[in-house]
Amino acid sequence: MTAAFTPHAILVTGGAGFIGSNFINHFMGANPGCRVVNLDLLTYAGNLENLTGVESRPDYRFVRGDICDAPLVASLLTEERIEAVLHFAAESHVDRSITGPEIFVRTNVLGTQVLLEESRRHWQANKSADFRFLQVSTDEVYGSLGATGFFTEETPLAPNSPYSASKAGADLLVRAYHETYGMPTLNTRCSNNYGPYHFPEKLIPLMITNIINQKPLPVYGDGLNVRDWLHVKDHSRAIETVLKKGRGGSIYNVGGNNEWKNIDIVNLVCDLLDGRLGRQPGANRQLIAFVKDRPGHDKRYAIDAARIKRELGWEPGYTFEQGIAETIDWYLHNQEWVAKVTSGAYRDYYEKQYGR
Ligand code: NAD
Ligand code: DAU
Repeated sequence: MTAAFTPHAILVTGGAGFIGSNFINHFMGANPGCRVVNLDLLTYAGNLENLTGVESRPDYRFVRGDICDAPLVASLLTEERIEAVLHFAAESHVDRSITGPEIFVRTNVLGTQVLLEESRRHWQANKSADFRFLQVSTDEVYGSLGATGFFTEETPLAPNSPYSASKAGADLLVRAYHETYGMPTLNTRCSNNYGPYHFPEKLIPLMITNIINQKPLPVYGDGLNVRDWLHVKDHSRAIETVLKKGRGGSIYNVGGNNEWKNIDIVNLVCDLLDGRLGRQPGANRQLIAFVKDRPGHDKRYAIDAARIKRELGWEPGYTFEQGIAETIDWYLHNQEWVAKVTSGAYRDYYEKQYGR
């Protein structure tokens, strides 16, 4: 058994987004000796208010910038003596990729190539030091399943949306940097996440916020598509585990064996909120509106996470019952966060906190 990798400084890209900010909050709590540099462009999906718990720590630095900016990436890698790049930054919403695919290719494919290339130069210039490049990817690169079966790490890539195609392109570049240059890369592919700080364009936070505001709940098609849900804190621990113990060049699927039909999850969220909002049982379900299906809508995702469990000892900690209840309560207790996201006021935080 080789010793776990314990970096002194990491570069996190996209650390102001949903998963990146949860990861930073988790990682900085668990690894006080490690400096964290967060490079984020603050697109609509970036919210620095997710990071108020760490922003004043001396071992944290926020840099507003673009992963496609090679000189910026190179200077951060050198001046901060970065030992690992954890690459979360992306355009992440499938529906947006259908109406505007170009930015997905720029950020997700070209941005990953810039990070890989600058990481390669940095790693080769400091070859005596240990280094890792961890690509945070998605089960969507595998395409869609029928009624049975699971995605394993050997399932062929068959992405169906511009989003998943751009993530698959990035994953293939990561593979190529390992095969061509021997770069120590890691690749995680996780199922759907839920939890705090989730931008309310995605299914679960959209349903919660619409229910609170008594707005319609748009369910695409017949509502029978299946997603496999994992709490974002379990995903954060999985990424930390892969960073510290993963084998260079490997892919690790991450998931919690927790499949739900969309309509069942919407009904569940409705029912849990009936009680909490003091509404009649069944009242929130009246808000459900079946709408036109998403084009190319993948039918079912289900992850086989046996490798990360067997080789690295990671297991999810949350039951879904506990995780969804906590998530709903988080949204109810953080209505100010929701209001600022809904109004757009969250976008002023950078100027207020960091100035020009
Ligand atoms: P998100 O949309 O919430 O956050 C993305 C972050 O990236 C934002 O902070 C945004 O400002 C930043 N960003 C975008 N373009 C950038 C650029 N050019 N330069 C620097 N920063 C930029 O996304 P998320 O849901 O937190 O997903 C994070 C990663 O995890 C993505 O790579 C996604 O593909 C992957 N993933 C997501 C899920 C999920 O369920 N959300 C599941 C599996 C994998
Ligand atoms: O599987 C991992 C992926 O999960 C990540 O790679 C993506 O970044 C992330 O956005 C997520 O993709 P999905 O498309 O599965 O998530 P979304 O929340 O957009 O949709 C979940 C399911 O709910 C999907 O079947 C579409 C459906 N849906 C979604 C929305 C927003 C609805 O029925 N109504 C909605 O309003």
